[in-house]
Amino acid sequence: MTIWYGGDYNPEQWPREVWDEDVTLMQRGGISLATVGVFSWARLEPRPGEYDFAWLDDVLDTLHAGGIRVDLATATASPPPWLAKRHPETLPVTEEGVRLAVGSRQQYCPSSPVYRDRARQLVTRLVERYAQHPALELWHVNNEYGCHVSHCYCEVSAAAFRTWLEAKYATIEELNRAWGTAFWSQHYDAFDEVEPPRAAPSFRNPTQLLDFDRFSSDELLACYRSEVEVIRATSEVPITTNFMGFFKPVDYWTWAREVDIVSDDTYPDPADPLSAPYAAMVRDLMRSLGDGAPWLLMEQSPSAVNWRPQNAAKAPGQMRAWSYQSVARGADGILFFQWRQSAAGSEKFHSGMVPHGGTDTRVWREIEQLGGELRRLSGDQVGLEGSRVPAQVAIALDWDSWWALEQPASPTNVSYLETLFAWHHALTSQGVTVDFVRADGDLSGYRLVVAPAHFVATDAQLENLASFADSGGTLVVGFGTAITDEHLHVRLGGYLGEPLRRTLGVWIEEFAPPAAPDLRAVGGGAAPSVALDGEVLGGSAAGSIWAEYVRVEDAATVATFADGALAGWPAVTRRGGDASAAWYVATLPEPDALRHLAARVLADAGVELPPAAATGANLEVVRRGELVFVINHGAEDAELLLEGTDLLTGHPSQGAKLHPQGVAVIDGMQRLG
Ligand code: GLA
Repeated sequence: MTIWYGGDYNPEQWPREVWDEDVTLMQRGGISLATVGVFSWARLEPRPGEYDFAWLDDVLDTLHAGGIRVDLATATASPPPWLAKRHPETLPVTEEGVRLAVGSRQQYCPSSPVYRDRARQLVTRLVERYAQHPALELWHVNNEYGCHVSHCYCEVSAAAFRTWLEAKYATIEELNRAWGTAFWSQHYDAFDEVEPPRAAPSFRNPTQLLDFDRFSSDELLACYRSEVEVIRATSEVPITTNFMGFFKPVDYWTWAREVDIVSDDTYPDPADPLSAPYAAMVRDLMRSLGDGAPWLLMEQSPSAVNWRPQNAAKAPGQMRAWSYQSVARGADGILFFQWRQSAAGSEKFHSGMVPHGGTDTRVWREIEQLGGELRRLSGDQVGLEGSRVPAQVAIALDWDSWWALEQPASPTNVSYLETLFAWHHALTSQGVTVDFVRADGDLSGYRLVVAPAHFVATDAQLENLASFADSGGTLVVGFGTAITDEHLHVRLGGYLGEPLRRTLGVWIEEFAPPAAPDLRAVGGGAAPSVALDGEVLGGSAAGSIWAEYVRVEDAATVATFADGALAGWPAVTRRGGDASAAWYVATLPEPDALRHLAARVLADAGVELPPAAATGANLEVVRRGELVFVINHGAEDAELLLEGTDLLTGHPSQGAKLHPQGVAVIDGMQRLG
């Protein structure tokens, strides 16, 4: 067993003599796994049906001879230009009707039978040739499904959408009911009248939009399945496809069941001070998608990317600190895009493990250092790989809610992800580890579950959340929850849905989001805010984005709105006894106030905060298995307080300094709760 270390390896961009040097350098850098062939289709099949595997044989043999394992891609993420030339209908179409062209990448319609068939033919050849190759460790299907083209609006997709709808609704009358087509004269007489939600004069049917989001995620999944079927017929090597963190177009709950190991690509912006806590949330999602099993960081950048308007380089030590963040939160591998920084093409200014400047560079030295460290942390003696990250707290995450809440014609500009992040950050900044869960999943292992903005709620989800609270768990429900059912039909008679109304002891009469300045005006504007008051929030505070008229039936009001028409109305309520409680939060309190509230809720749930691991601000502390990771994301030195040995230095941890971007992996310390 080892903590995998490596990256995307694209030797076809380089002359043959460089490949030997690559392997020598990989050995020096502690590289154990290389992802090969991600964008190699045109090279593997230069003309339809004419395959050239000789060079790939050479790559795999060379890596194998050097002791490097291979994560072999199926190469289907970017079809060669000949496919579009012969079959222009495989090119995707935008909602405005623009057919996208060749010359970039990922130019395929996910529903195209021609694309899928061609992809399967290539995968069939690859599997025949390499299933038994001794270097093969993992299959890497396609790449970042949906990255550039997640929704296609062409005629082929339209037909596939109709088939999907017929399977879902069976009759057109059922579709009419679900979509609420009595509104605006949208009634359909037959499935063949239904189209994808292309650009239209005004708001498109919300349920049609939601179904198209579901359909689009499913179509990409069908592409994945179609390749997996081919691989599975011959090979037992594990299969993955790389996710992209909180990627809105693809419902990873559905996907995660179909990969053997979850893997993720994450590119936090070094210029954003919130990147570390945001990335922590992404890592927690990856662990949660696999039900706590170890996952792989499949891609990150060694330093700068090249696709932001301004591409900050990672600070010295930051790549290492963020890598350990992944390991701390459950990753058993750290890989990069890409091994050797390209000399040509659209990504030549994206950093690589071997930079343009060669090996006498900061980036390479950091790569080499981390490789050496991960090697030393690997193995049974440390017991890191395979170990789990315990969590007593979970946040409910739901793609339907994300898709629907952010549709046009909604009460406000709420960002689903920002709302989740606010809660995640409020909890993790107190040293608490947080999982993500499905609202209808097994919640029994948690003491506290937070359901923020769970806008689209099925009856089963509501029953599950309510019964978690009714059976002694502590539940926090955030604003914007259970406004609609799964067809986006509003839950009438007061928002929230019956089981939650009973459990929380409140219902919602009306939304009243604070007036928004014109966020699109030159210079933008601050998020709209509303005054709050309550000890549970630390006194006077501001709420943002949302407010509402909360009607209390059987709960204590523990914070109120403090100005305007809402003055005196409940902002936070609590129902329950000493041991557990059900909370309702009708706005998004500002960060300090939310942290205050989170601490109170954690106390309700009986979640003990871990002892301080170090002095200083912006520290990240996570327990994984028997180890505690401490990462200093702050600008000042921190001093470690925990007793034990720092496995990275071999020295006692207590009293040791942790510089900015410093990391300690502490073993043998006092056990954390
Ligand atoms: C994604 C892709 C890679 C590369 C990187 C650049 O993760 O999978 O091929 O384009 O982005 O950041």
